[in-house]
Amino acid sequence: MLDDAAGFSTLHVSRHPAVLHKLALLRAQGTEPKKFRELVREISWLVGYEALADAHLRPIEVSTPLEPTVGAKLADRIGLIPILRAGLGMVDAMLELMPTAQVWHLGLFRDERTLRPVEYYNRLPDTASVDLCLILDPMLATGGSATAAIEVLKDWGASRIKLINLICAPEGVRAVAKAHPDVAIHSAALDRQLDERGYIMPGLGDAGDRQFGTGLG
Ligand code: PRP
Ligand code: URA
Repeated sequence: MLDDAAGFSTLHVSRHPAVLHKLALLRAQGTEPKKFRELVREISWLVGYEALADAHLRPIEVSTPLEPTVGAKLADRIGLIPILRAGLGMVDAMLELMPTAQVWHLGLFRDERTLRPVEYYNRLPDTASVDLCLILDPMLATGGSATAAIEVLKDWGASRIKLINLICAPEGVRAVAKAHPDVAIHSAALDRQLDERGYIMPGLGDAGDRQFGTGLG
């Protein structure tokens, strides 16, 4: 594992102790799907909280029981774009943080032979209806899926896009940064490398299978 963003200018890796503690449990082979889903949710909340630090606000008047004062209201319309399947487990946490967010699902799977993304579901409306898009996917491996998702959103008219992952590989960060240097990546960890099958090492295995109990054996 690499300690920090390793010089990638678009990458923000959380250093929060709560994230690091939960991440070790998430990686552990013996963590069952129920606990795994809880951890995906909890780490997503913490990484998402950091990713939203520069969301736009506007001032509002608030009356406390004692006097009027000025408060803040979120000015950005937020769009959450979970990448099916594995990104689904990150949605509830992000909705807790941003209850008014719109959720637009995007279905992509990685062809196991070519490692290229295949799009199978997209119900985005004709024109962009949000100001800030947060793509949710626990794993950034080759970067093929994330790059394709960003292209879909840019074609849709999205101008501010962030990618929220739990674990990323240097290969994927490099690929996304090259194709989309304007997209910030927020992650709980930057791991060492991909293996010959395109899995993140040390990683956590298959994030979709571990959440939904669909791994073989
Ligand atoms: C995983 C993961 C990403 C993708 C990352 O999804 O959730 O979407 O692989 O790999 P990449 O960076 O090389 O594109 P997968 O294709 O396994 O689909 P699933 O979520 O349905 O399990
Ligand atoms: N997708 C996963 O779920 N895990 C990996 O390590 C790579 C891609």
